[in-house]
Amino acid sequence: MRLTRQLKVTLALLGLASLLFTAGAHAEPPLPDIPKGKGEQCVEPTPVMRRHHMDFILHQRTETMHEGIRTKKYSLVECINCHVVPNEKGEYPKFGSDDHFCSSCHNYASVHIDCFQCHADKPETAYKGGKFQHALGGSNPHHFADKAGAPISKGDIELVSAESNSHE
Ligand code: HEC
Ligand code: HEC
Ligand code: HEC
Repeated sequence: MRLTRQLKVTLALLGLASLLFTAGAHAEPPLPDIPKGKGEQCVEPTPVMRRHHMDFILHQRTETMHEGIRTKKYSLVECINCHVVPNEKGEYPKFGSDDHFCSSCHNYASVHIDCFQCHADKPETAYKGGKFQHALGGSNPHHFADKAGAPISKGDIELVSAESNSHE
């Protein structure tokens, strides 16, 4: 009896260990068919981007809004400029489709983001005749949650749009 019980416990532990091991082996974000970006390389090494892209854009977002610092390096507009390319039909994919760089991966990994309700999901060059528009502020974008839920002020928008209009 005792031996059988011990055996059961051992087997259970082994099972748990293999489960944990399997989970560990899958800790890297899964990689579906991701559209190839423009240029030779990303703003950081690709493995770093896979794991930490959200930290860069969320951090940049905060810096831009709080201190009026706009560095192009981690700009969401620049991410889209390089990463969103026309599909075989020559059309720019919309965010949400498996052809769109950001959602190709997010659909696969079931990650939900709301950035493109306000931000353009296509590169600036996709707006041929029309004017590319920077993100529109909502009445209470959770975006500025670190301002204790305060709505974006007109000054914030003017500050960043003045900067952004002057970028090459
Ligand atoms: C309710 C509207 C709204 C939503 C939703 C939103 N943003 Fe923004 N975001 C803005 C506005 C307004 C600005 C300032 C104007 C600009 O620079 O386009 C801005 C600026 C930024 C900037 C700095 C400018 C740039 O292009 O680098 C980043 C980065 C950014 N947002 C990232 C994000 C990310 C990532 C998400 C999703 C998690 C997101 N935003 C969701 C409205 C929004
Ligand atoms: C100068 C063009 C350029 C810019 C700007 C750029 N990237 Fe990249 N990015 C690349 C290239 C090239 C790769 C390598 C993989 C590929 O060929 O798509 C890459 C790789 C990545 C990957 C990994 C993709 C994979 O296949 O696993 C992620 C995620 C990523 N970038 C996100 C971003 C984000 C977020 C931004 C904005 C902060 C950004 N990139 C800005 C060109 C760019
Ligand atoms: C290589 C696959 C891949 C690509 C390409 C990719 N993402 Fe992600 N992204 C992920 C994964 C996986 C997570 C969830 C990571 C986690 O929960 O630790 C994530 C998380 C995020 C988050 C944080 C969401 C949250 O609620 O915490 C943001 C914001 C984000 N991605 C924005 C983008 C944008 C914008 C693009 C396109 C420029 C993009 N991602 C492209 C895989 C990807």
